Amino acid sequence: MSLIDEIDFGTPESRSEASVTLTIDGRKVTVPQGTSIMRAAKSVGASIPKLCATDSLNAFGSCRLCLVEIEGRAGTPASCTTPVTDGMVVATQTQRLAKLRKGVMELYISDHPLDCLTCAANGDCELQDMAGAVGLRDVRYGQDGASHLTAEKDTSNPYFTYDASKCIVCSRCVRACEEQQGTFALTIAGRGFGSRVAPGPSPTFMGSECVSCGACVQACPTATLTETKVIEIGQPERSVVTTCAYCGVGCAFKAEMRGEELVRMVPWKDGKANRGHSCVKGRFAWGYAQHKERILSPMIRASINDPWKEVSWDAAIAHTASEFKRIQAKYGRDAVGGITSSRCTNEETYLVQKLVRAAFGNNNVDTCARVCHSPTGYGLKTTFGTSAGTQDFDSVEDSDVILVMGANPTDAHPVFASRMKKRLRAGARLIVIDPRRIDLVRSAHIKADHHLALRPGTNVAMLTALAHVIVTEGLVDEAYVRERCDMDAFTHWAEFVARDANSPEAMEAVTGVPASEVRQAARLYATGGRAAIYYGLGVTEHSQGSTTVMAIANLAMATGNIGRPGVGVNPLRGQNNVQGACDMGSFPHELSGYRHVSDAAARGLFESAWGVTLDEEPGLRIPNMLDAAVAGAFKGLYIQGEDILQSDPNTRHVAAGLGAMECVVVQDLFLNETATFAHVFLPGSTFLEKDGTFTNAERRIQRVRKVMRPRNGLADWEITKALSNALGFPMAYDHPSEIMDEIARLTPSFAGVSYDRLDALGSVQWPCNEAAPEGTPVMHIERFVRGEGRFIITEYVPTDEKVGPRFPLLLTTGRILSQYNVGAQTRRTENSAWHEEDVLEIHPQDAEDRGVRDGDWVTLASRSGDTALRARITDRVAPGVVYTTFHHPDTQANVVTTDYSDWATNCPEYKVTAVQVSKGNGPGDWQARYADQSRRARRIEAAE
Ligand code: SF4
Ligand code: SF4
Ligand code: SF4
Ligand code: FES
Repeated sequence: MSLIDEIDFGTPESRSEASVTLTIDGRKVTVPQGTSIMRAAKSVGASIPKLCATDSLNAFGSCRLCLVEIEGRAGTPASCTTPVTDGMVVATQTQRLAKLRKGVMELYISDHPLDCLTCAANGDCELQDMAGAVGLRDVRYGQDGASHLTAEKDTSNPYFTYDASKCIVCSRCVRACEEQQGTFALTIAGRGFGSRVAPGPSPTFMGSECVSCGACVQACPTATLTETKVIEIGQPERSVVTTCAYCGVGCAFKAEMRGEELVRMVPWKDGKANRGHSCVKGRFAWGYAQHKERILSPMIRASINDPWKEVSWDAAIAHTASEFKRIQAKYGRDAVGGITSSRCTNEETYLVQKLVRAAFGNNNVDTCARVCHSPTGYGLKTTFGTSAGTQDFDSVEDSDVILVMGANPTDAHPVFASRMKKRLRAGARLIVIDPRRIDLVRSAHIKADHHLALRPGTNVAMLTALAHVIVTEGLVDEAYVRERCDMDAFTHWAEFVARDANSPEAMEAVTGVPASEVRQAARLYATGGRAAIYYGLGVTEHSQGSTTVMAIANLAMATGNIGRPGVGVNPLRGQNNVQGACDMGSFPHELSGYRHVSDAAARGLFESAWGVTLDEEPGLRIPNMLDAAVAGAFKGLYIQGEDILQSDPNTRHVAAGLGAMECVVVQDLFLNETATFAHVFLPGSTFLEKDGTFTNAERRIQRVRKVMRPRNGLADWEITKALSNALGFPMAYDHPSEIMDEIARLTPSFAGVSYDRLDALGSVQWPCNEAAPEGTPVMHIERFVRGEGRFIITEYVPTDEKVGPRFPLLLTTGRILSQYNVGAQTRRTENSAWHEEDVLEIHPQDAEDRGVRDGDWVTLASRSGDTALRARITDRVAPGVVYTTFHHPDTQANVVTTDYSDWATNCPEYKVTAVQVSKGNGPGDWQARYADQSRRARRIEAAE
């Protein structure tokens, strides 16, 4: 296997439908209008030397290496900046051009350290390649004059080095940061000979606005910007295309390897979700796979107070199976259950739910999507007929208006955020609905037209007020609604939203947002052209999460914004495979493909394939499992890749539930917080160590490919298979592709999916079946999946979680770019350089009222519990609102959150907790107790 070489066409593809025919080096070529000569030449195999051009960036024309001759035209224009015209006759290789190019290269090389043999980029350097391409043999100018050869290196970033002595000032890095990433962190400082790349006004990358996305490193044609790992261990030898295991954007990467060592992850240009871009997590934060705290041997213990004892895989599996059998014999079939992971592959998730339904013989299976996007499933299924987003990510390029609600894409979905920002810089309008001033509201070259900074917990009131304006001001797309939607439901809904009680003026007291601003935003959404809604957990994690999703769907249907590129309703999924986990039947009431367990026909299909009788009653959800455990009826839980003690609400209740069980099995990479209560620990494998698929937020199924052997010995699917076999329900798969074949046989929306098809197409968006063999980028084009779109009345019901004299502030939570969820992976990488601890954002007024200064320890208390963290004073949050992240276990932000939840799905109300903040003295008693308990739970006895 060798490195995958991606063709660089030099300039971006033209989207024009008109075409132009010209002649290049005697060959006729037809290309889209607007194509550069350089790209047209490359398409017929003619490589024109270049340095400042690369096809991920707009042409710049600074290096003058790509000169060509054009018949009938004087001079030698740059082929990267010159568009083709009909009938043009171009010569790319002449003696005159060769002389000019050699001259240019001589100038570059005269100010370049000639240390190729010891340079980290040796063999992967465009400057070296170009010297060869132009036939450079010597440099007439010598290296005696002024030069930059002694310029200092900037090693402040843990992942890459900036070696200014090697910079050719081609600006590719500056342009990558602007055009691809949209951060504008870099600039060319100085003039003429003194010009140098600078990270803004800061002397170092770490001190600058840089978010470490790696785009500049990727774009740099020399060794100036180089990954630290490449400097440390050398150039990679082979690459394998795989998918990032962090967020729901689903970026495709080339994992570049040296033997079994991962050297770097390089974003793959053909990845349809990321189009060659990346963020700091997928690009750099994969070191956790080799972290010393990773557990590599199975472990068991009789009691959670005992130290762990390492055992063989056979012993661990046999022990687990016998414990589950014992519990079921003693307490009944329903006393055990399983939790699937949104971090694992589709195939692994499918196997866990199959194990629960077929081997345990009940439907007690749930997934962490319960605590994030279960309302999306419910809301979109009810209104449109499918539990998923409607578009592909490319669609944003066609949007005229973008409405972002309860999502913070630049931190949580950074690569998609960069694509969105590109569209916004090109002129799309922006509405942000969020209690906090997220970066998108105002960042480099972007300013939201409207920021509706509503009070946490008032989403439904806000959306109904927007709908009120659309209906009462005659902005409904009546033809669309008449043709596509259930008219009775629409009429009832229109009558409901038109009531005075739902007007922006009436709702102003509830949401805190001026009515005039709401009216303007509604008009913009309804009349601004193709309008798309993107939303996140700020929508779903509420007591009215499902209602909010349906209110969003109502708005989109009323304005005809469903069923074509540029529009749609798009949940930004948190975890890499949360869509897949839901698709695969992880919920207690649904088989794969969202078919209810009470549906006899669907059940029959699985019964005959699996040779068992399935329970027709839905099983227990996670919170119900914990309640049942506290009540003494639920005793055994198999948890794959999930840390419910840290990620689920009301930590104390979760601890009580887990503590009441007799066999808790945790399958994970590290001894996570939940493992404090575990009796069996089964070491999991990383995404680098197994084959499978993930499904991203746009329903895109992508391959995960094994690049190294599992350090723990088994891939996660093999562990579930072994457990099932030990329980007496045989599973005989030899490769995950066989599991996918079974999924395809049993799941209509996956009917056309196979590893062969994924390999051939790169990826595919479900539904993929006979009607759509290459998948479905945009859904509901001619009709809704459920037939007619269904409007739902969305009455605003205030949450029971109310502020009062004891708890006068509202806490809302979110993520930060460098950390990921409970931080199990990212905290074990250099990413902690950016976010060492969770902090509490508090408005200056609220801080002053409490005598709190920036950096002070504060106690954050709710009726559920309290925790201590440091205060950060900022006006990003409104008065009365405080905000924190939940990436660090010692903060345990979920000690504070309550167990109120969405009425339809039990999704916890993380985004609204009434709290008080007071000056504190650092971590409290329980945090110390907890740290001690956690430490004790990590004791491991030496293997026998
Ligand atoms: S790493 Fe990304 S954000 Fe940082 S300077 Fe490079 S392109 Fe800009
Ligand atoms: S750092 Fe690299 S990409 Fe940036 S100007 Fe220098 S050589 Fe070009
Ligand atoms: S945006 Fe998400 S999928 Fe892409 S590299 Fe970052 S974490 Fe990975
Ligand atoms: S590649 Fe065209 S001017 Fe540099």
